[in-house]
Amino acid sequence: MEEVTVQEPVVSMPRIGDKAPSFKAITTQGDINFPEDYSGRWVILFSHPADFTPVCSSEFITFASMEDQFKEAGCDLVGLSIDGLYSHIAWLRTIKEKLSYNGHTNVEVNFPLIEDITMNIAKQYGMIQPGEDTTKAVRAVFFIDPKGMIRTIIYYPLSLGRNFDELYRVLQALKTADEFGVATPADWRPGDDVIVGPAGSCGAAKDRMDGKEDMTCQDWFFCSKKMDKDKVLKAIAKK
Ligand code: BEZ
Repeated sequence: MEEVTVQEPVVSMPRIGDKAPSFKAITTQGDINFPEDYSGRWVILFSHPADFTPVCSSEFITFASMEDQFKEAGCDLVGLSIDGLYSHIAWLRTIKEKLSYNGHTNVEVNFPLIEDITMNIAKQYGMIQPGEDTTKAVRAVFFIDPKGMIRTIIYYPLSLGRNFDELYRVLQALKTADEFGVATPADWRPGDDVIVGPAGSCGAAKDRMDGKEDMTCQDWFFCSKKMDKDKVLKAIAKK
């Protein structure tokens, strides 16, 4: 018998530096037009495998308890879970009425949770990764800037709950890089030294090593400078 090859559809995943793919969606806070409704602000789009699951519930409680902190940094949150609207409503009500996590109780989720029972949006954003699961989204996090561009993507598997302090640190670092034209080294937090980009010419490299620039260089390509914590926090707080 002739062998039939089934061609998998080509799924293109958005990448850092791409414009965030647009979609319209029904959410627990009404209809949204993404990312256009968030133009001029940062927005984090994050996915969950399914409603009424324990790791997701712990994540929802944690993210919802930090929503004001993100909002004050000019960043809105938008969740997506592979379930329907009524399931979402019931799950969020259960979270508020019955669940607590890490000392957070009675938590109301005020950010929109997208209904995506068809998985169309999840597929558009590469959140369905068949090697992990064909019907549940992995835990994806997309940081989208005020111009609608994707600036960071982080994926976690189903079994691993996200670190939301790290997500906040990423937002702080992205805003700092934009505001001051610097880069941020490993484990950077506001108040730590920032990295100055590599010297672009032999002359600039020499000037740096001769101590002519306002920076500390261990070698011509490895230079950092102090950045006042309050100055950074003030810039991050800017919408
Ligand atoms: C959870 O959120 O608990 C979960 C969801 C899907 C697979 C495994 C765990």
